[in-house]
Amino acid sequence: MSNSKLNASIEAIEYIKPKITQDSIVGVGTGSTVNYFIEELAKIKHIFKGAVSSSEASTKLLENLGIDVFELNDINEILVYVDGADEVDVSYNLIKGGGGAHTREKIVASASSEFVCIVDESKLVGTLGNFPLPVEVMIKSRSYVAREIVKLGGLPELRKDFLTDQGNQILDIKDLIIENPLDLERRLNLIPGVLDNGLFANCKPQKVIVGKD
Ligand code: 5RP
Repeated sequence: MSNSKLNASIEAIEYIKPKITQDSIVGVGTGSTVNYFIEELAKIKHIFKGAVSSSEASTKLLENLGIDVFELNDINEILVYVDGADEVDVSYNLIKGGGGAHTREKIVASASSEFVCIVDESKLVGTLGNFPLPVEVMIKSRSYVAREIVKLGGLPELRKDFLTDQGNQILDIKDLIIENPLDLERRLNLIPGVLDNGLFANCKPQKVIVGKD
């Protein structure tokens, strides 16, 4: 068990609990840190309505623990979105998508009134880019997108034996020093065939909870 991930999750529950009502919908991210959060969320499932999930894996876990999961299309308001990250810089820009779920994660985060990011200390960085930046691409566009990424100065690598929940592939970009996350997020998403990339600079968390061991 990772105490820091668990502690971040417990702190997130303490933070969101006073805001929650019987009608509240909680947005839920994906990953090993969020798995701890889901376990903690299940302990207070009687005080809110349900969740919108960012991945099939999180949906399964939520449902197994008795939390109702709603389709984003059927929900008008998400009180708060809680998710992990692979890197967090001092301005709260993120790299996400280590689990390949960043496209749906960004949609649910954007649709939520507040975004709370839960991480352990190892995720805090000065400049983003040491963690390979994931880009979800339509399979038929993969080679073209890869060539465009090389023009931007990155080294794209196909994530082997992996398809996203949407049936697409992931190119992980190595060798990037990301001085301007917002600009790179936009430029990557302008390449036809890119669904979304793992930079969360346009849609940043309002709060970052760093769990201590
Ligand atoms: C999944 C993600 C995760 O939030 C990110 O990879 C962090 O995961 P973990 O909590 O397992 O370190 O973006 O797409």
